[in-house]
Amino acid sequence: MSLNTPHVIERMLGLSGIDTSSHLTSFILFNLAKNPDVQDKLYEEVQRQLPTKESKLDKNALDKMPYLRAVVKESLRVTPPVALMARKLEHPLELGGFKCPENVVYCPAHWHMSNNDR
Ligand code: HEM
Repeated sequence: MSLNTPHVIERMLGLSGIDTSSHLTSFILFNLAKNPDVQDKLYEEVQRQLPTKESKLDKNALDKMPYLRAVVKESLRVTPPVALMARKLEHPLELGGFKCPENVVYCPAHWHMSNNDR
């Protein structure tokens, strides 16, 4: 299959950029709904930094909202939008004592890794 520029842009923004971002946003809302105390604390921080409709949401404002950053990061950990990915190993790989031969398909499972205490 050959790809032209619109195909590449569609693949990059469509699948890579839009689905992941919208899933992350949905998961954040879901996690906040399950943790109303966190939602209240986040609401207070956002209200403090962006008190009126005219307040600007820019890098400066974002830098002053560490709790928002923590909420996004924790949501990425607890409910990663990409649950796992796959790579075919070109060379043998040793990972945490496990020996993986070349040519096997290795699947780092983000969801499992970031929700496993071990
Ligand atoms: C929270 C949002 C996002 C998450 C969780 C995310 C997650 C990921 C993951 C896990 C991969 C590796 C997939 C693989 O190689 O199997 C990836 C690759 C990629 N992502 Fe994202 N992504 C996000 C946002 C975006 C956005 C906004 C864009 C573009 C505007 C984008 C463009 C890409 C591209 C082009 C690749 C392929 C990179 C490469 O193979 O060299 N992503 N992303």
